Amino acid sequence: MTSVISQPSKRKVAVPATRLLINNRWIASETGKTFAAINPSTGEEICQVSEADATDVEKAVKAARTAFELGPWPKTRASERGRLLHRLADLIEDNADDLASLESLDNGMPFSIAKAINVAATVACYRYFAGWADKVQGKTIPIDGDYFCYTRQEPVGVVGQILPWNFPLMLQAWKLAPALATGNTIVMKPAEQTPLSALRMGELILEAGFPEGVVNLLPGFGPIAGAAIARHMDVDKVAFTGSTEVGRLIMEAAAKSNLKRVALELGSKNPNIVFADADLDEAVDGAHFGLFFNQGQACTAGFRVFVERKIYDQFVEKSGARARIRTVGDPFDPGTEQGPQKDQAQLDKVMGYIESGQSEGAKLVCGGKRVGNRGYFIQPTVFSDVQDDMKIAKEEIFGPVMSIIPFKDIDEVIERANQTTYGLLACLDP
Ligand code: NAI
Ligand code: MG
Repeated sequence: MTSVISQPSKRKVAVPATRLLINNRWIASETGKTFAAINPSTGEEICQVSEADATDVEKAVKAARTAFELGPWPKTRASERGRLLHRLADLIEDNADDLASLESLDNGMPFSIAKAINVAATVACYRYFAGWADKVQGKTIPIDGDYFCYTRQEPVGVVGQILPWNFPLMLQAWKLAPALATGNTIVMKPAEQTPLSALRMGELILEAGFPEGVVNLLPGFGPIAGAAIARHMDVDKVAFTGSTEVGRLIMEAAAKSNLKRVALELGSKNPNIVFADADLDEAVDGAHFGLFFNQGQACTAGFRVFVERKIYDQFVEKSGARARIRTVGDPFDPGTEQGPQKDQAQLDKVMGYIESGQSEGAKLVCGGKRVGNRGYFIQPTVFSDVQDDMKIAKEEIFGPVMSIIPFKDIDEVIERANQTTYGLLACLDP
């Protein structure tokens, strides 16, 4: 095993506001309760953060409703909403190092990736939707004779947004930017595992000059603050990214309350398919990146790598060799490719899948163990001889575990690749 773990760095990272943001003010939760933000590289506490419950959700929804109905948000020109989003993007660029550090500290992703990919994509997202703000248009629909009808796109109203922890800044941007560009007001719950960069964004949102009540941030737990948002009678829409299991609960809460609109982005078990005439080294590299990127914690990860029989043994050997030299360790070390999994629950879940792969008869090519006993690091793991009906081929592992599966021909592999209850994404390397 050549992966190395260096000592978690002593780098100083500035901790942002740690309270709730309601109506442009940082306030403690009604109960005064707090919870710990944990550094996944060490398992140690970074700081305490205020924990929102249903009472705080109530306050935030009132603030968002007032901002939506009375203003000044409804009177804010679309071009001004665009200007505010550009201003926010400028502030993110000015604070890129701080934000990326916070992301590495709280989530565990390597700093270089946090900065070059996560922060950069966040800036790009806010800029893209800034451009959208004054270009949202309806349709003119010709009807029979001299009649036509036209449609107008209008904001939905108060939007609840519930975030996961795997790309905290970027996924916050994916929800916040389009909703703000189109004139909605927001009640957002960041993931309890990664509240810090979301709160730092709250500081930048204030600095950018967004009016009171437009963005409200409620760090807290899913079944408490998250559920209170999902069932709230005065939230017009809820947007959620996370597990399929909780996606179902969100839909149910919407159905049982005010039939609010629901947008869900859930789990995956994406197939990557490699044919015999692919450039072998490139395909091995692509599959490696496609799975191990972000510690395997991505809804787009290529968890199932289908490889044509003719090149299967070679592909397995090269993938194992590449995974063995993947560097695992301190996210702040510039040489690190892979940081820790986000928390103890994810570590336990992934280790459980590795055990199940072995007991169901898949062949462990490399990895399979925890790295060290501090923090939540796992060796890059590759299984070969994986069968479609094994648990590791069917369920979302969400960790650094690659399953390589042989196939004979294109018709067979397309059918097998589609045999999943998940949707999302697939890649072919012809
Ligand atoms: P989760 O679905 O429990 O959490 C996601 C968000 O939903 C968090 O903000 C959480 O506080 C909130 N939440 C939890 N229960 C809720 C409830 N009853 N009502 C309203 N909100 C609620 O996901 P978790 O437990 O963090 O991860 C479990 C698995 O889910 C992962 O191992 C992975 O397989 C999958 N996942 C997939 C993601 C993706 O990008 N598709 C992102 C995160 C997790
Ligand atoms: Mg959960």
